[in-house]
Amino acid sequence: MASLCVKPYATTKRFNPINPTRSLFFSKISAHPLLQSTSIPTTIKCSLSRRPEYIPNRISDPHYVRIFDTTLRDGEQSPGATLTSKEKLDIARQLAKLGVDIIEAGFPASSKDDLEAVKMIAKEVGNTVDEGGHVPVICGLARCNRADINAAWDAVKYAKRPRIHTFIATSDIHLKHKLRKSMEEVIQIAREMVSFARSLGCEDVEFSPEDAGRSQKEFLYQILGEVIKAGATTLNIPDTVGILLPVEFGQLIADIKSNTPGIENVIISTHCQNDLGQASSNTVAGAYAGARQLEVTVNGIGERAGNASLEEVVMTIACRGKELMGGLYTGINTKHIFMASKMVADYTGLPVQPHKAIVGANAFAHESGIHQDGMLKHRSTYEIISPEDIGLYRSNESGIVLGKLSGRHAFKSRLRELGYSLDDKQLDDVFWRFKSVAEKKKVTCGTLGLSTATVKLIDADGAEYVECSIGTGPVDAAYKAIDLIVKIPVVLREYYINAVTEGIDAIASTRVLIQPENGHASTHALSGDTVQRTFSGTGAEMDIVVSSVRAYVSALNKVLGFKNNAAA
Ligand code: KIV
Repeated sequence: MASLCVKPYATTKRFNPINPTRSLFFSKISAHPLLQSTSIPTTIKCSLSRRPEYIPNRISDPHYVRIFDTTLRDGEQSPGATLTSKEKLDIARQLAKLGVDIIEAGFPASSKDDLEAVKMIAKEVGNTVDEGGHVPVICGLARCNRADINAAWDAVKYAKRPRIHTFIATSDIHLKHKLRKSMEEVIQIAREMVSFARSLGCEDVEFSPEDAGRSQKEFLYQILGEVIKAGATTLNIPDTVGILLPVEFGQLIADIKSNTPGIENVIISTHCQNDLGQASSNTVAGAYAGARQLEVTVNGIGERAGNASLEEVVMTIACRGKELMGGLYTGINTKHIFMASKMVADYTGLPVQPHKAIVGANAFAHESGIHQDGMLKHRSTYEIISPEDIGLYRSNESGIVLGKLSGRHAFKSRLRELGYSLDDKQLDDVFWRFKSVAEKKKVTCGTLGLSTATVKLIDADGAEYVECSIGTGPVDAAYKAIDLIVKIPVVLREYYINAVTEGIDAIASTRVLIQPENGHASTHALSGDTVQRTFSGTGAEMDIVVSSVRAYVSALNKVLGFKNNAAA
């Protein structure tokens, strides 16, 4: 491999994670003047500030931080998280409601399905301007090659603000084992592909040196300087393997800011993976150090241990940005966070752990007597954020318990508490389905010897199909009957059943993960490998067999709707 010619750069300042403009020595953190003079707020006041006008490579207000959401791209790379196009569109609409600045809608070269979904999002969400005049940028990921970049442009060009995000690895380990290329070759490819993206008419091009966290800094300064000259408008710095600690990641951003030629003409971005559980902290450290775009996912989903979580990063900035980060703020309307979290958990089939910060079921629960006493006296004793600030309304505040005698109004209020806002037509549908569940008698079920099941499925055109089968249990028998109708060979990878309400007539929620035996492949963004997709489905019913059938059928519907690899 040819060696890199390293140019002398400005001396690097020691990164100060509290105030990037000053240097700090850590011998006595408590003596730091900023910490001494700052009063810690008791609770957070959420207010929406005016968002500066969108210019790809510049933000007029130095305190404004762009939120780039990659739930639909990096998040969807989580095993089993495959989403249908309709689900992707719903999530993109919710992200727009949240006010994210950029939606990375997918990796269009990975499959025909992804290309079409990104196109649909670009056409719809990318052209819907809200009352405040905001419309999110719609971004598509592309490796540094013409086919990927063409596919990305083909999909995003319909948006008012289209962006292509292209990347190539820069760490020694990736150059040697994955790319088998020299540093000079990688610089040349990066430069050419950024200018190719610009030549298509795309004025907003993001470049990422993959595995920047393990790359030689001098090489980073050089390649980043070159892609700036080629027309990149945002430079994203990924800690692809999630190895860095906050102080190291902050220092990396500070060093890139001081040493990259032309850096003042672009936006610096962070992309932190969570392998050591540091992703959100690293992202916040990056913002301290001068990054003004933060890449995150809802619920922190993503490759392996996931990404920095939108809700943690946004609420940290909302909570401490004013006092400790020199007035940093985002354009996120935090009241839509809870709904976004629920939607992503439901659609991906990846539940949120109960103790997850901000959106976990226990995040606002107070169990111990001491805490409950404190809460009753004053909420700020144990709560730094109000649940209402993320759009969560406590059920014990309204005291609503739903049953078969509940009316539409109570039902609507409870849905609002749960974060759902439905229009009248949707409310009618859901209300009648709720009534029928509430009125249902308990179902009995028993087997003598082998279980048998008869299943009737109705397709989209109304045609009915009936099959029966035997199995080792009622669920197994029902799944075998479904297989006889659908005729798609799949392997059941995971099956979970949970009670979501209490008591003998509890609602059972089922989640399955299936993998088709043939086809259903897409190209993995980072490795370039062809990967077999897995598909999850969920169902909820009082009868556990029916709940299981619903989950299986919903996963099979995703398989049927998925379109394989594009020409990539
Ligand atoms: O983790 C990573 O490096 C990425 C890049 C494509 C930004 O996802």
